[in-house]
Amino acid sequence: TWTIGNIAEEQIARIKEQIGTEGRAICGLSGGVDSAVAAAIVTKAIGDRLTCVYVDHGLMRKDETEQIERDFVAATGAKLVVVDAEKQFLDALAGVSEPEAKRKIIGREFIRSFEAAQADIIAAAPEGTTVGFLVQGTLYPDVVESGHGAGAATIKSHHNVGGLPEDLEFELVEPLRELFKDEVRAVGAQLGLPDVIVHRQPFPGPGLGIRIIGEVTRERLDILREADAIAREELSAAGLDRDIWQMPVVLLADVRSVGVQGDGRTYGHPVVLRPVTSEDAMTADWARLPYELLEKISTRITNEVREINRVTVDITSKPPGTIEWE
Ligand code: XMP
Repeated sequence: TWTIGNIAEEQIARIKEQIGTEGRAICGLSGGVDSAVAAAIVTKAIGDRLTCVYVDHGLMRKDETEQIERDFVAATGAKLVVVDAEKQFLDALAGVSEPEAKRKIIGREFIRSFEAAQADIIAAAPEGTTVGFLVQGTLYPDVVESGHGAGAATIKSHHNVGGLPEDLEFELVEPLRELFKDEVRAVGAQLGLPDVIVHRQPFPGPGLGIRIIGEVTRERLDILREADAIAREELSAAGLDRDIWQMPVVLLADVRSVGVQGDGRTYGHPVVLRPVTSEDAMTADWARLPYELLEKISTRITNEVREINRVTVDITSKPPGTIEWE
């Protein structure tokens, strides 16, 4: 029979076989539940022959990198290397606004960073060591929506599926490829990961890069990081983290509107709150957040983030909208 317990056992056994007794792997860690559970499964299969690599692409939310270093290592004892790649990503994204172009660039730079980490690991290891395997937390919905499922059309190139470069030097290990999110969380809990990882809301691999509509710059990222931190703080304070699937905050960076603050005219950017409920992200409904919470988020963002003078809420379901705007 199909139980969460034997999903984990089955995957551990399958991965032991795929990687063998000598093989080494690296795992890209995003901070989300998917890559953490994938890494935990592979750690059970091959122990310290797995090195986890966290690429800090500069597109993360506020304080996220520090959290990943702390929580994940504490929970799994896994080997973790942090790569500071902010400049590399932002340089590659300069001048690019088109969503698929951004996704492809981010996917490509991810792999370049892994390859660099691989080279470093080999350089530090005994003669003859190779790292041939790349672990990814690809889920079943990612496979379907990137057009890799039977008969599916490409909607978005998820960075961990369609965005891979053709000269990929790794063999992929994807222990979650047949699972939905709720199953991944159950497997994670079964493997002893803490709630803060297991119940973390989903966050896309391309990070805030696909939540800035327009060109991605350091300045725009900083603006969005501030607004997003406020929205997350208030959602948590209202006790709604587990009721909401996720709530992207989207910066309409090329749009400006006139407002008034104190005695003065403002000419700032809007942000869009995109709270949704969902079972598996294949479909979603817009979340009816309490008005008091919306008011609090709106007031705080417009007061505390100088460049933002308007807060709007997206009330589109999926379909026809997707959850992320790009
Ligand atoms: P969409 O926007 O397609 O998002 O409705 C569905 C779910 O997937 C997340 N998402 C991604 N996750 N890499 C990821 O790991 C990606 O490239 C990516 N794009 C979207 C999104 O946050 C939502 O939970």
